[in-house]
Amino acid sequence: MNLPSLKQAKIRGKEDIKIIDNDYVIPNSMKLIGKGKHYFIKTYGCQMNVHDSENIKAILEDMSYSETLNMEDADIIILNTCAIRENAHNKMFGFLGRVKHLKESNPNIICGICGCMAQEEVIVDELKSKYKWVDIVFGTHNIHKLPFILKESMENKHQEIEVYSIEGDVYENIPVKRDSKYKAWVNIMYGCDKFCTYCIVPYTRGKQRSRLPKDIIREVEKLYKDGYKEVTLLGQNVNAYGKDLNIDYTMSDLLKDVALTGIDRVRFITSHPWDFNDKMIDTICEYPNIMPYIHLPLQSGSDRILKLMGRRYTKEEYITLFNKLKSKIKNCAITTDIIVAFPTESEEDFNETLDVVNTCKFDSAFTFIFSKRAGTPAALMEDNLTEEEKNSRLYRLNEVVNKYANLSNQRYLNKTVKVLLEDYSDKEGYLMGYTDTMKLVNVKADKKYLGEIVDVKITMIKTWSMDGILSKKV
Ligand code: SAH
Ligand code: SF4
Ligand code: F3S
Repeated sequence: MNLPSLKQAKIRGKEDIKIIDNDYVIPNSMKLIGKGKHYFIKTYGCQMNVHDSENIKAILEDMSYSETLNMEDADIIILNTCAIRENAHNKMFGFLGRVKHLKESNPNIICGICGCMAQEEVIVDELKSKYKWVDIVFGTHNIHKLPFILKESMENKHQEIEVYSIEGDVYENIPVKRDSKYKAWVNIMYGCDKFCTYCIVPYTRGKQRSRLPKDIIREVEKLYKDGYKEVTLLGQNVNAYGKDLNIDYTMSDLLKDVALTGIDRVRFITSHPWDFNDKMIDTICEYPNIMPYIHLPLQSGSDRILKLMGRRYTKEEYITLFNKLKSKIKNCAITTDIIVAFPTESEEDFNETLDVVNTCKFDSAFTFIFSKRAGTPAALMEDNLTEEEKNSRLYRLNEVVNKYANLSNQRYLNKTVKVLLEDYSDKEGYLMGYTDTMKLVNVKADKKYLGEIVDVKITMIKTWSMDGILSKKV
């Protein structure tokens, strides 16, 4: 058993990161464990978790399990958790209630918890004391060990907890079963060293560690060869890519090399405003296959709050960067993340946030009420607001955000835009996909167009999506 430790998770040493690029092999004795059995996996959280689940699926399939989308049919149920906000706690324990019910009628079902909540001391304590029937708990650093953890728990019929609070290594060659045949997530770096005062990610994901350029390019080249049309480069701070490698190679070099593979669309998330430099902007402008879409989290418009958050930029610096991106990158869409009710946030601070939203008129924004995360510095700061005030701020912010989101969509009416048709839409006879600028479009089109980038004329604007028809013009 290995339990998480918050104290350990904070440590950032000077040792070089190990890149482990041995072939991934599962011992023969484990290859048939899942024969005739099914797995069900539920994923919460960001794209990194979604991509981790793609790894978990491939590992389980290497053990001969096959996927079921129906939890009731599963022999193994895995919950890949997110710890970013407190409500994750309720979601997870609510879900466990349902699994317990299934286990009562079939005790052979295996239940596993992984992801960022598994890295939290308080959560694992609770699983250990009150949820002894949960069979396996593993963290974000040892997904590749899943077959061993699973086998151990099956053989010894005890709760197997293997969570490491380490800075982490980089594992190449972990198998992956991608959810889409057309667009793929590609990790370019793991972890985070920014330690924004409210955020748990640096504790759950370890230190910032970039993959080597050659490994990323090789992955993208293979995806392109396999017919993929789009890659999204993933990291908590993609602009800081390469800073931890002792080589003269930065995010703009990587963007360029990925663009040069010839893949149709290159995206990247998330950009921290702090590391966004001119060279990167020039590269985005230079290569038409780098999409004109940037997610640029603001968090707050008040300099005082930004400082308390440890974000290392001011309102003015944010707006300057925003304007530069808008003026240099043609038709660039910019979205953001905003937290309201950070400890000590006053009405004036909040109004400054509204001010920035009114200035930037974002294409869209994810908005959150500050949530206390155990072990982070902000959890100890004074909570000065009532629930009512917090909700009112979120509501007022959303009103403004939605107004601009709608306005930015309106500009698309009757325009012809490129859409990668990636899946069936919920609407009969329609496919769905995204524009270069990441707008969701439902397109009336035959299924033969799945996986293609087509010209679409936008015929109707809705709040969160648009409708369109295939355009004759190519
Ligand atoms: N690495 C990204 C953010 C990843 S987390 C960045 O720095 O931009 C996604 C979003 O969750 C954050 O941008 C923030 O808005 C929100 N978030 C993170 N911690 C939070 C907390 N404790 N309470 C409320 N929202 C939080
Ligand atoms: Fe969290 Fe800040 Fe790192 Fe983003 S940059 S993951 S908000 S600590
Ligand atoms: Fe959540 Fe972990 Fe991502 S906390 S947002 S799943 S890095």
